[in-house]
Amino acid sequence: MNIILLGPPGAGKGTQARNLVDTRDMIQLSTGDMLREAKDSGTEMGKIVADVMARGELVTDEIVIGLIREKLEGDKQGGFIFDGFPRTLAQADALATLLAECGESLDAVVEMQVDDDALVDRITGRYTCGNCGEVYHKTTKPEAVDGTCDKCGAQDMKHRADDNEESLRTRLMEYYKKTSPLIGYYYAKGQLKSVDGLGEIAEVQSAIAGALDG
Ligand code: AP5
Ligand code: MG
Repeated sequence: MNIILLGPPGAGKGTQARNLVDTRDMIQLSTGDMLREAKDSGTEMGKIVADVMARGELVTDEIVIGLIREKLEGDKQGGFIFDGFPRTLAQADALATLLAECGESLDAVVEMQVDDDALVDRITGRYTCGNCGEVYHKTTKPEAVDGTCDKCGAQDMKHRADDNEESLRTRLMEYYKKTSPLIGYYYAKGQLKSVDGLGEIAEVQSAIAGALDG
């Protein structure tokens, strides 16, 4: 099964993608994570995207489509979860072509609906394990032992450079201008499944399972 998790910054795409990896042996393809890796390892592409990402703007379609193309050539396991991709209509068209080229198709697009006030709270309270990428929140999902990752035991919690109110405003604007048209695009194709993303993490997980299996 190949699915897209669609939603604004902080909607919970990464959190739910990791749940799907654990429960369904799927592969998470997060273009945000791939771009941050490129930035941290100092590649040419990483240098180009660093400022754009810190401001909260979208990087070019060409770069992210190239990243996804490489990943689709590898092992497919229980299918792909596209997390944060596509974000423009051009990326959506490119994804359809890339999937067709490797004999795959899209099974569902899960839209996670969360209002702006909750997004600000989620983004400003988020931190991530620098070793394994587990996502935490200071009130809704704190680690059991202060500063130690529940999943891998590392002591390397990190905040993202774009997790501040100014960048978030730009990220939200980019989402409403360039990404939200995908809701209508996938609705028209009969692939859209919308879930309430405002409940607790486990509730949202059940809603997504219901949308995928129902
Ligand atoms: P990206 O990394 O994709 O960021 P984003 O879309 O802004 O989304 P986030 O990762 O911030 O949020 P999320 O929905 O994953 O939420 P999470 O699960 O972490 O992209 C970053 C940048 O890279 C972009 O701005 C752009 O520059 C570039 N980029 C990436 N892809 C691109 C593309 N395709 N095209 C062009 N540019 C691209 O959860 C957030 C917090 O909430 C966490 O603390 C979590 O613990 C908590 N939480 C989660 N669920 C719940 C819940 N149900 N209840 C309470 N708390 C919850
Ligand atoms: Mg994410």
